[in-house]
Amino acid sequence: MKKGLPPKKGYARYAGEYDEKEKFWDSFEKDYLKPYIESAKDKKVLDAGAGTGRLSLRLHKAGAEVTSLDISPEMLILLGQKNSEIEVVEGDMEAMPFEDDSFDMVFSSLALVHLKKIDVFLDECYRVLKDDGKLVLVNIHYRKPLVLHDGQGRYTIQCYNHFPRHVRKAAEELAFGVEKEIMVTEGDDVWVSQILILKK
Ligand SMILES: C[S@@+](CC[C@H](N)C(=O)[O-])C[C@H]1O[C@@H](n2cnc3c(N)ncnc32)[C@H](O)[C@@H]1O
Repeated sequence: MKKGLPPKKGYARYAGEYDEKEKFWDSFEKDYLKPYIESAKDKKVLDAGAGTGRLSLRLHKAGAEVTSLDISPEMLILLGQKNSEIEVVEGDMEAMPFEDDSFDMVFSSLALVHLKKIDVFLDECYRVLKDDGKLVLVNIHYRKPLVLHDGQGRYTIQCYNHFPRHVRKAAEELAFGVEKEIMVTEGDDVWVSQILILKK
């Protein structure tokens, strides 16, 4: 895939339009996250790479105490305008500004695709999760680059497709247990996304 803008720059340009594609973003998850969102009630939850809050808002509605982390202040401002009870934190998923053992659950959807390496982020999730905590991870497959355009012209945002078996292996090597793996596919063999439920 052609190299695009680093996510911080890319989402600064794209933030205002992100929510217009909510149905497209939802299509990577279908309804598979629902039971996990519901199970987050009364839990301390991190949404890593939260964007404008597509999942954070659902988690908050389900009764979770939500912290939303993102590298893009422009995306987080939009999230904050929708719900002021959610704590928003600007920061990097690969160097999270949180203490060890801080969260009962970490959710991360559609964001791993922007990281070149899988293991640094997974290691950070392991660190910030409490014992027995869960990571709900959505690893998506862009079959073609998402070409965006605005007044300044056409652009893409850096993406790295990660093979499902590599993500699973990296998680297992970091001592996560795989509670469940769901493959969302189109046709017989084209994968759309991998949903992993991982246990510390
Ligand atoms: C496609 S959006 C997904 C937003 C949201 N999770 C959702 O499911 O709608 C990807 C988000 O990941 C964020 N992101 C990319 N790289 C990041 C990093 N290293 N640390 C934190 N956030 C990052 C982007 O700024 C963007 O808001």
